[in-house]
Amino acid sequence: MSVADLPKVELHLHHEGAAPPAFVRQLAHEKKVDLTGVFDDQGNYKFTDFVNFLRTYEAATAVLQTPEDFGRLTSAVLEECAANGVVYVESFLSPEFCGCGDLAAWREYLHAIQEAADRAETTHGITLRGVVTCIRHEGPEIAKRTALCAAETAGDWVVGFGMGGDEGKGHQGDFAYSFDMAREAGLKLTTHAGEFGGPESVWEAIRDLNVERIGHGVRAIEDPKLVQEIVARDITLEVCPGSNVVLGLYKDFAAHPIQKLRAAGVKVTVSTDDPPFFGTTMRREYDMLAAAHGWDAEVFAEINQTAARAAFCDEDTRATIL
Ligand code: ADE
Ligand code: ZN
Repeated sequence: MSVADLPKVELHLHHEGAAPPAFVRQLAHEKKVDLTGVFDDQGNYKFTDFVNFLRTYEAATAVLQTPEDFGRLTSAVLEECAANGVVYVESFLSPEFCGCGDLAAWREYLHAIQEAADRAETTHGITLRGVVTCIRHEGPEIAKRTALCAAETAGDWVVGFGMGGDEGKGHQGDFAYSFDMAREAGLKLTTHAGEFGGPESVWEAIRDLNVERIGHGVRAIEDPKLVQEIVARDITLEVCPGSNVVLGLYKDFAAHPIQKLRAAGVKVTVSTDDPPFFGTTMRREYDMLAAAHGWDAEVFAEINQTAARAAFCDEDTRATIL
């Protein structure tokens, strides 16, 4: 058996970022949306760097216009996850893409997403939970609107609150009000940090947002004190090696610090981020990590146990994961 055949827990997946290109093109055709500049000649998502990736990502979301579209997206995404052996996944959902931040609209989108997730659970045996996510480059005021959507729908399905977007804009602490609101509603917290922001961004995430998990966090490796702090606080990293390589953080999987972080005692997990954008899948991440770092089935089993323990779901759901 190959390590890629193992059952997997994925904690860091952007719902729109997981949209297969063929799915986006089909919706564009149905809705007559012009996607010039989104795809290259081979039909893959096209971008030049991280900020340009965010632009392409947002341009592709123009085809996602109704709750039904998000239901269809959810079915397509979960089918792909299940085909990769993923048994539990948490995906980032942005109310800004689901009804432009309006709470009543968000409830309708969420309902459609949950219905599709229930069907996928029955058909493919995969469980999805949602992490409502604000978009950093849209600023702290819009984030408050997102946090309200998160707080009002918090429960056994919406289990977390997070932040993605351009880490070069503002500071983690600018969003403390929104993260506090989400925490008070019972949500668990994660934020993208230490991807393009460097170690200082991770320090800010810990000090100013008091998160349980960090999206990426890999650049913590540049600061030994920070690595110690992450271990001491029992913070889990949602590491997405293939994403980091394609976006130019590291030249290849061998140069990626995931093994050094793990050896230092950091709780690391493995995810795909935006798989079709980065030409990856969970199976490929496992194969590449095995080849680059010599990881065997025992290591991957430990990583999946770590992910299951760090999942934001309730204990009944956790008991069913692995
Ligand atoms: N949104 C989607 N993918 C992202 C990433 N890798 N970093 C920050 N925001 C994102
Ligand atoms: Zn991400």
